[in-house]
Amino acid sequence: MKYGVSYYPEHKSQAEIDHDIALMKEAGIDFVRMGEFAWCKFEPVEGNYDFTWLDPVIEQLGTNGILTILCTPTACPPAWLVEQHPEILYVDNRGVTRPFGGRRHYCYNNRIYQEYSRKIADAIGAHYGNNPYVFAFQIDNELAQEGTGRCHCQVCREKFQNWLEHKYGSIGELNRRMGTIFWGQTYDHFGQIHPPVNSIEVNTMQAIPAYFENPSLRLDFERFCSESNIEYQNIQRAAIKAHTDKIVTTNATGVATNSIDYYKAFHELDNYAFDYYPSLRDVEISSFPYAHARGVCNKDFWLLEFQSGGGHGLWGSGRLQPYPGALRQAAIHAFAAGADLVAHFQFRTFPFGAEQLNYAVVDIDGIPRRRFYEVQAAARDLKKLGGILKNSRFDNEVALCFDYEALWALKIKPIAKDFNYLKFCSEIYQQLIKLGAGVDVVSFNHDLHKYKVVIVPAPIIMSDEFKRRLKHYVYNGGVLLSTFLAGIKNPDNLGIVQSLPCGLTDVFGIRVGEVEPVVDRTTATVSLATDAGRVQGANKYWTETLEPNGAEIIGVYADTFREGLGVISRNDFGNGAAYYLGTGLEPTLLTGLVKRILKDGDVTPLPFAVQEGMEVFVRKYNHQNLYCIFNFRKEPVTIELGQDYNDVLNGATVSEQVVLDPKGYLFLLD
Ligand code: GAL
Ligand code: ZN
Repeated sequence: MKYGVSYYPEHKSQAEIDHDIALMKEAGIDFVRMGEFAWCKFEPVEGNYDFTWLDPVIEQLGTNGILTILCTPTACPPAWLVEQHPEILYVDNRGVTRPFGGRRHYCYNNRIYQEYSRKIADAIGAHYGNNPYVFAFQIDNELAQEGTGRCHCQVCREKFQNWLEHKYGSIGELNRRMGTIFWGQTYDHFGQIHPPVNSIEVNTMQAIPAYFENPSLRLDFERFCSESNIEYQNIQRAAIKAHTDKIVTTNATGVATNSIDYYKAFHELDNYAFDYYPSLRDVEISSFPYAHARGVCNKDFWLLEFQSGGGHGLWGSGRLQPYPGALRQAAIHAFAAGADLVAHFQFRTFPFGAEQLNYAVVDIDGIPRRRFYEVQAAARDLKKLGGILKNSRFDNEVALCFDYEALWALKIKPIAKDFNYLKFCSEIYQQLIKLGAGVDVVSFNHDLHKYKVVIVPAPIIMSDEFKRRLKHYVYNGGVLLSTFLAGIKNPDNLGIVQSLPCGLTDVFGIRVGEVEPVVDRTTATVSLATDAGRVQGANKYWTETLEPNGAEIIGVYADTFREGLGVISRNDFGNGAAYYLGTGLEPTLLTGLVKRILKDGDVTPLPFAVQEGMEVFVRKYNHQNLYCIFNFRKEPVTIELGQDYNDVLNGATVSEQVVLDPKGYLFLLD
């Protein structure tokens, strides 16, 4: 297990480097991540590669026990390259070219840029592939981040046309499968196709009202852009791998900031790695991104950039500092959740550039303060926990399926103003965690058989194959929950001409009747039957009425003109059961439903209660259970244990009761 920081020696004098390395050593840091923006140093003049500025730093770090992850610097094509080849620049959805002077100003499909990128990756691989202090390589930095994943240049336009031609074979087939007869959008040939001008990317400007554009074409553009970014990434991967067997990966952003399909992006990389900046001031840290990260490559993941503190910020305003203890806790929490490498961004505050005065572990004056000491404390605890974490694994009984195409389709055609697919998945995940269930977030292609309960929130696009697998899963004894929108579209992003949930009416034993969004004045009360009696509460997001066709209606509308109509159902199917939820639920109701489903699925309960503001991961260590317990609150929490455990961090036996400090953590072995 490795713990480190991002570091920028290209900004520094030798005296500053000496000072920083001494501090890193004192903090107990194992590695640094360097180089991702330093192309102008690696290749100051075309073809003249220069490593003399970095070699001694890697050596000095290495002899001080600090290893290096080296990045390719392609997020920042240098001035000379842009001057010589302005055609490599990124063009956004409005047709505006992104000039030199920021970062990520390139087109990933441009052959010239691909070749320059391949060459710099090759040079770095050749020079550092066998360096004993370099243990891994990162490709680029946050591909597609900051609105650079949907290039609209001429190269991309033509490549998209070819991509479509390859996919559909003939323009007639494309017209048919995209339903271009609607509004007379029928094409005569592929050369007439323009990439959609509306982007689903965060903060991008929209050129014309989105609903003018064909949703099937837009979904294909998302797929094309995702594939193009992956292809670009893999050009660099191959260049580095030609020189080394060391780990090559890249840093994804969150779960889905850039809408690259990360399940596909990491196929050829050695492990999943991503960047995460949770707020550490007030709230608990969501482990949803970690649960997702575990599922991408089905193994431990890396956190290549992680929160380090507050102060000034990159965007608009500054950022709040972590609550005392929260930084230390956040690092250990990430390791407990499945990371086996974590790097804070970044070591010491920058004086210049777009990120001047930004957050870091150490302040600009180089004097260690509380954040530094928290990192040091986390490093110390990690030394004690590393062995047991490395040798233990998750064996969760619940899976939640998250899919990028559903995400894209729901951004292309949103169903309700306040509905966000990612947040909805995360909301259900949080409910499960609060009830002490261990959850994996997985793709639609993941093997589901080992799970006792599978949850598929808002799966608006489902392949026939996925539907078949879900049926099989339930038939063989699994417990399934799907929500509204299940299977209403095919992979072409067309509505299916069948009763909803299309192709799944038998497994759920219902048909969906009328549907509509929930707006403030149409909120309805839902009444749900649970073991503890009926629970009532408000609905939200989206409403469907269910027509039972074999299923038991367990939730009904309790008011409005829909009073008495079904909204939640349960159906016995083969040896299993399938639940359908036709609306969004407020927390009490969702808790009631989730509790009922966990019980139905016979999910193993935790031996102690999870209280408000607490999170528990269970990992299997040989035949024992390792309970990783976190208190995110600013007050201590008393846990009634009811049996003896071994406290891994201090070796003591704890029994009956244990008090968890504010922002504290505890690792107990049964
Ligand atoms: C990340 C990026 C870093 C840095 C950081 C600031 O998205 O990869 O280079 O800009 O944000 O929070
Ligand atoms: Zn382009």
